[in-house]
Amino acid sequence: MKIVIAGATGLVGTALTDILIAGGHQVSPLLRVRKAGELFWSPEENILDPTQLEGFDAVVNLAGENIASDRWTEEKKRLIRDSRVNSTRLLSTTLAALSSPPSVLVNASALGYYGNRGDEVLTETSSKGTGFLANVVQEWEAATEPASSKGIRVALMRIGVVLSPKGGAMSRLLPIFQMGGGGILGSGKQYMSWIDLEDVARAFHRAIMSSNLEGPINTAAPQPVTNAEFTKVLGKVLMRPTLFPLPAAAARLIMGEMADELLLASQRLKPAKLEENGFQFQYPALEQSLKHLLGKAK
Ligand SMILES: NC(=O)c1ccc[n+]([C@@H]2O[C@H](COP(=O)([O-])OP(=O)(O)OC[C@H]3O[C@@H](n4cnc5c(N)ncnc54)[C@H](OP(=O)(O)O)[C@@H]3O)[C@@H](O)[C@H]2O)c1
Repeated sequence: MKIVIAGATGLVGTALTDILIAGGHQVSPLLRVRKAGELFWSPEENILDPTQLEGFDAVVNLAGENIASDRWTEEKKRLIRDSRVNSTRLLSTTLAALSSPPSVLVNASALGYYGNRGDEVLTETSSKGTGFLANVVQEWEAATEPASSKGIRVALMRIGVVLSPKGGAMSRLLPIFQMGGGGILGSGKQYMSWIDLEDVARAFHRAIMSSNLEGPINTAAPQPVTNAEFTKVLGKVLMRPTLFPLPAAAARLIMGEMADELLLASQRLKPAKLEENGFQFQYPALEQSLKHLLGKAK
């Protein structure tokens, strides 16, 4: 297949590109910097030449400003929203107008859709939550509507916390845990729906290939854990103590609003649609995933 990937240079994009190329597919990254022979767009300036997207079989959209790199000022929040909603709208309206559109758009989305939900089991039919991220995700998913109205199959991958030492939340936690400074965050009772980097790439691959996967798709491992369990397992795999809790009030002081939406929010996802589709997680259990990611013996 001929596949375009926006946001291809990021954590998930790099892993997905690797497995698609290994499978013999042709991957064309859609880049925000001009490079000879490469596809170009500038979502900030609403620039995307449609002719370069004619004739592809599938489009994957992973573009978005990093949500955890800085404190959430009003400007950062605008960037988080616009880099997802405006870029997705630009891409989907452009695809809808092509004379030879792709058969599928696989768009990133996030577990933030569900807000803070305690121990409620969340499937794709669960309601939207409240908060900044829940509102952003709703707009982000809605921005794919021009493509679905045109008959393009749209898969909205509601991704959980991607585990990889190469980036994302885990790469920030690792140095602290490796120094023996890890501990539970807040009450430790909040659920964390995680997914191994390899499985997230495989789930995107499945969504590209499987014609009956569409709409929202929970993209998280089938065994979510509480923060207390996550802390215990990561400490065990690293063979380090985890005796330094970060109380909720301290997390809020350090990170502001981001603390409540990213560290302290509880989301217990069930990957119902992937399971119904027969998708087999390579790493369904946390300890197994962490050992694989950190190169520890099984
Ligand atoms: N990693 C996670 O735990 C996780 C969890 C839930 C949801 N997601 C979502 O999944 C998507 C991919 O995640 P990821 O971890 O691979 O993210 P990532 O490593 O931050 O990569 C995202 C890519 O988006 C592009 N990008 C960065 N800033 C941008 C901006 N201001 N405007 C437009 N494009 C921008 C960049 O690609 P180019 O420079 O090539 O354009 C970047 O490599 C993101 O939308 C993210 O919100 C991730």
